[in-house]
Amino acid sequence: MVDTNLTVIDHPLIQHKLAILRDKNTNVRDFRALCTEISMLMAFEAMRNLPLEEVMVETPLALAKARRLAGKKLALVAILRAGLIMVDGILNLVPTARVGHIGLYRDPKTLKPVQYYSKLPADIAERDVFVLDPMLATGGSAAAAIRLLKEQGAKSIRLLCIIGAPEGKAVVHREHPEVEILLAAQDERLNEHGYIMPGLGDAGDRIYGTR
Ligand code: PRP
Ligand code: URA
Repeated sequence: MVDTNLTVIDHPLIQHKLAILRDKNTNVRDFRALCTEISMLMAFEAMRNLPLEEVMVETPLALAKARRLAGKKLALVAILRAGLIMVDGILNLVPTARVGHIGLYRDPKTLKPVQYYSKLPADIAERDVFVLDPMLATGGSAAAAIRLLKEQGAKSIRLLCIIGAPEGKAVVHREHPEVEILLAAQDERLNEHGYIMPGLGDAGDRIYGTR
């Protein structure tokens, strides 16, 4: 499904894995593995339109016209904690990508993001940036991370989340209308505690077994 600057990647493999991920009986080990696999599959789709350049390659038999990636290099920026789980899957596809980290947690009362850490590649302004976080709920964390990236000069930014709520999408698009959001699923709404419904619960707690 394609909305304005929102793509829901409804590949059957992703949807199958997402069904297991949502299940409350899925254990920590499987939950982590599924997050990694879904992230890799989403990134595969997200990179479908990367620019290519023609090159000549000498095979053992002849010269072959081939194509390889051109354009800007990639940076993955994980929103801690939960976004960290998405990094390894994508690095399987793009092993030379640089990785940045932005530490944010959601204040449970106000639901506003609180920043506690940031370390970004020095040349972030020159890179295509994928911001990674499994959950886009109120959108406060993603919007704050993108704001910080823009302050550091990043110009080409996309947001990759596994599940998003309409509320979060609206907030990110209001503040950052040019940023494309890629989801594996757009759920119905937020509950009174700011959790995505039906969602998958608290991603960080399910990844790290902290609850
Ligand atoms: C979760 C999630 C997002 C944020 C989404 O993180 O991983 O970062 O909430 O909510 P929002 O869209 O309303 O901002 P959390 O604050 O629970 O921190 P954690 O990853 O350290 O568990
Ligand atoms: N953060 C999560 O981990 N899950 C939600 O549903 C909302 C925010």
